Amino acid sequence: MDLISVRDLETKDIEAILESASQIDRGEKDVDLNGRILATLFFEPSTRTKLSFQSAAMRSKMKVLDFSPESSSLKKGESFMDTIKTVSGYADVLAIRHPKEGSVRLASAATEKPVVNGGDGGNQHPTQTLIDLYSIKKTKGRIKGLDVTLSGDLKHARTMRSLVYGLAMFGANVRLVSPRGLEMDKKYLEEVNRKFGLDVRSGNTPEYTDADVLYVCRIQAERFADPYEAQSVQQKFMIKKSDLKDAREDMAILHPLPKVNEIDSAIDDMPQAKYFEQAHNGIPLRMAVLDHVLSR
Ligand code: NCD
Repeated sequence: MDLISVRDLETKDIEAILESASQIDRGEKDVDLNGRILATLFFEPSTRTKLSFQSAAMRSKMKVLDFSPESSSLKKGESFMDTIKTVSGYADVLAIRHPKEGSVRLASAATEKPVVNGGDGGNQHPTQTLIDLYSIKKTKGRIKGLDVTLSGDLKHARTMRSLVYGLAMFGANVRLVSPRGLEMDKKYLEEVNRKFGLDVRSGNTPEYTDADVLYVCRIQAERFADPYEAQSVQQKFMIKKSDLKDAREDMAILHPLPKVNEIDSAIDDMPQAKYFEQAHNGIPLRMAVLDHVLSR
């Protein structure tokens, strides 16, 4: 099966993947995909998603082919779709990241092999959402009924769009905090609400006191038409340690990373900061995903 959007997953699929990741994490389950090949095709920069997919594949006894756009025949003018058709003959599963919304869905139509979306523009990032749900469950013991604040560039961040959907599926209460003009698309929120009855509050003023989980993301400067506008918002929207003085002691602070300057690095040492642990959760989670998509 393909995994292009969180919409492709039913609650029971997510529960199965989270349970499998948890068993892998605790050393109670091995994934043996011996002989299969993962191809990673990343047309946008990546540290965590690409490396953790590759590491997860290696830990599942797979082999890895990394496609590098810069040194490929794309440079001779070959199309994206011809590239996908070609690479799909060399691998058993493809993890693709691309700056254009919808392009990974398009790629999946060109191959019978499972395709996993590693992020398509400002649209979706389903495996990050699975990591986020896993990390929330691991630190807080549950998702249902938690107060989760999403703070940052909610207009352009695919992590936030995907996550809001996942949180609604599992019955969390969501608060959205973004700089003015960077609010999440209303139509998308309406879709989520229609499907799952999303309990959501929105605002432009940071307010973190009653949150069980604070999930922060950076201003997605590369998706702004005007880079100066991105810079000016970046400077205004930064969480300092003092902003969290009234936050709950057991609040979990998550971030998909990379962080730039939207969160003060002094926060890294707070016991509530769980984002590096969250990044490491990418390994068991992506092992579970590879196992899931290759067995269906
Ligand atoms: C995110 C992404 O690429 O969308 N990173 C990630 O995959 N962990 C977040 C971001 O770039 O801001």
